Amino acid sequence: MMDETTQVREVRRIFNRVAPVYDLLNRILSLREDVRWRRFVARSLRLPVDGGRVLDVATGTGDLALAIAARPERPRVVGLDLVPAMLTPAARKARRAGAPLALLAGDALRLPFPDASFDAATIAFGIRNIPRRVEAMAEMGRVLKPGGRLHVLEFTTPRRPAVRRLYTRYLRHLLPRLGGLVSGDASSYQYLADTILRFPPPDEFRREMVAAGLVAPRSHSLTQGIAWVHVAEKPLTD
Ligand SMILES: C[S@@+](CC[C@H](N)C(=O)[O-])C[C@H]1O[C@@H](n2cnc3c(N)ncnc32)[C@H](O)[C@@H]1O
Repeated sequence: MMDETTQVREVRRIFNRVAPVYDLLNRILSLREDVRWRRFVARSLRLPVDGGRVLDVATGTGDLALAIAARPERPRVVGLDLVPAMLTPAARKARRAGAPLALLAGDALRLPFPDASFDAATIAFGIRNIPRRVEAMAEMGRVLKPGGRLHVLEFTTPRRPAVRRLYTRYLRHLLPRLGGLVSGDASSYQYLADTILRFPPPDEFRREMVAAGLVAPRSHSLTQGIAWVHVAEKPLTD
C-alpha cells in the first residue's frame, strides 16, 4: 500500500501521461456507457431556474462539466482539476461547444472558493483517486449552499457474483492491456483498476458522506452496478 504522498504523485504522473488519449480510452473501455452516465448525473441535478452555479471537481477533460453546461437551465459551471494537462482538452472542447466553462487547476482538498458559493457540486471518477475522501467531501460541502447537493459518480465492483467475476477479470487483464496499447502505459491502467477494486461498496461510501457532514445520502446504480451515483445534501442548518 502506497503512502499518501506517493499516491498523489502517482495520480499526477498517470493523468499527465494519459491526458491526450483519456477521452478515447474512456469511450473504448466503457463501450460509450460513460457518456450516458455523465448525462444521467447532469439531468439529475436539481438546478435553480436561473441555472445557478455548479462546481465540477476533478473535472479532467471536462465531459461532465460540459454535459452540465448544456442543460437547458444554463448553469454557470466551474471545473477544477489537480493536473493542468487534463484541462487542456477540456478548454478545447468548451471552445468548440461554445460553452462558457471556467476551468482552473487546484486541489479538491483546498477549494479556492468561499463558503456556500455553489448550488451543486459534482465529482465523476475522481473521488477514488483522492486518498483523503472524507476531507475532500467535507470541503465540497463547505462550498455548497445549505440544501445544495453533492453528486458523486464512481465505479464500484458489482455485487452479483457472475457480473462481479467477469468485471474483475476485465479490470485485472483486459483494461491494463487495452489501456497500455493506446496510452503506452499499462501500469497506469493497472493502478486505476486497483483503485476501483479497493473502492468501498455503496453503503460504506454513504457512511463516508455522512462522516463528511452531509445528510440524506442515497445511491443509484447504473449498468449492472458497475457505476453508481451517490447523492447527499448539505444540511439546511448547522
Ligand atoms: C479518472 S479522471 C476523471 C475525470 C472526469 N471527471 C471524467 O469524468 O472523465 C480523475 C481526475 O481526478 C483528478 N484528481 C485527482 N486527485 C485530485 C485532487 N486532489 N484534486 C482535484 N483533482 C484531482 C485527476 O487529475 C483526474 O483528472
